Amino acid sequence: MADQKIDEATGTATMGHEWDGIEELNTPLPRWWVLTFYATILFAIGYVVVYPAWPMLSKGTEGVWGWTSRGQLAAEKTAGDAIHAKVRAELANVPIEQLQDNPELLANAVAGGKAAFRVNCVQCHGAGGGGGKGYPNLADNDWLWGGDLKAIETTIKHGIRSPDDAETRMSLMPSFGKDGILTPMQVNDVANHVLSFSGKAKPTGSGAALFAANCATCHGPDGKGLRQFGAPNLSDAIWLYGSKPSEVTASVTVAHAGQMPALERASRPSDDQDAGRLCPLAWWW
Ligand code: HEC
Ligand code: HEC
Repeated sequence: MADQKIDEATGTATMGHEWDGIEELNTPLPRWWVLTFYATILFAIGYVVVYPAWPMLSKGTEGVWGWTSRGQLAAEKTAGDAIHAKVRAELANVPIEQLQDNPELLANAVAGGKAAFRVNCVQCHGAGGGGGKGYPNLADNDWLWGGDLKAIETTIKHGIRSPDDAETRMSLMPSFGKDGILTPMQVNDVANHVLSFSGKAKPTGSGAALFAANCATCHGPDGKGLRQFGAPNLSDAIWLYGSKPSEVTASVTVAHAGQMPALERASRPSDDQDAGRLCPLAWWW
């Protein structure tokens, strides 16, 4: 431009603005900055062409490479399943009693079991299997139904008093008080006898007679429990429903009949379906 003024000190053209003798220079942007700026524009155009980018009404633009995060997940899952399929097939063929002879397979089973426990068991038995009132501790040595691998497998497969499994573990303690089998006095007497097993009360003749007549078939003559009935040991320090006299009386008045669901399922909704239901953005692409 003809009327362009050149700043003497720097040799740069000015913008023509001046405030109290201070002039604005028209310094060009550094070349590296301009090049980087153009490069980002090129990158963005390339990205929009090859990857899913713009949300449209019902679907996003797909991109020429056809990549989707769901597709990538599926591919990774297929690869993971292929690795696990071999171990799963081996596990299915080895009876659980023989698992201990095969340390590598056992380690795989334990790892898989750990994950399954977190999904299926912690809500009742607690994170470390410590249990709670009515939910047995699985980390101790006191077992209602048996603590060897085979017994535990049966418990998990068929549940306990599970209404939807014909082979479920079943035994029902009568509600002695509620159903009028024993009078409230007799309930107190026999509860007192229960507490005498662990030295918390003095045994009485009437309590002992009531126990022998009504309870020994399931809990054993000395209250040590019988596993074929899932009847707890009443003489130790471990209680499912509490050891206070009031709690023991309550257990005898109305039986608890704790339930555990049968957890062997032939099939479950596929993980993909689950993911679809869980991800509210799934409809997007
Ligand atoms: C809805 C709650 C619930 C869930 C879920 C549950 N359990 Fe149980 N489980 C129970 C109850 C209640 C008992 C005790 C039943 C009884 O009184 O005999 C029990 C008992 C057991 C026993 C028998 C303990 C013994 O002393 O013999 C084992 C073993 C067991 N559960 C393992 C599991 C495993 C493993 C899972 C997960 C795969 C699981 N449970 C999930 C409620 C549950
Ligand atoms: C048909 C078998 C059966 C008979 C008979 C029976 N029980 Fe039980 N009892 C059980 C079972 C099974 C449980 C565990 C119930 C559960 O987990 O819900 C149990 C639980 C208990 C408990 C709770 C134990 C705890 O750890 O909190 C007490 C106490 C008890 N019984 C006392 C008695 C007394 C006393 C009698 C006799 C008057 C008796 N039972 C008769 C099967 C029986």
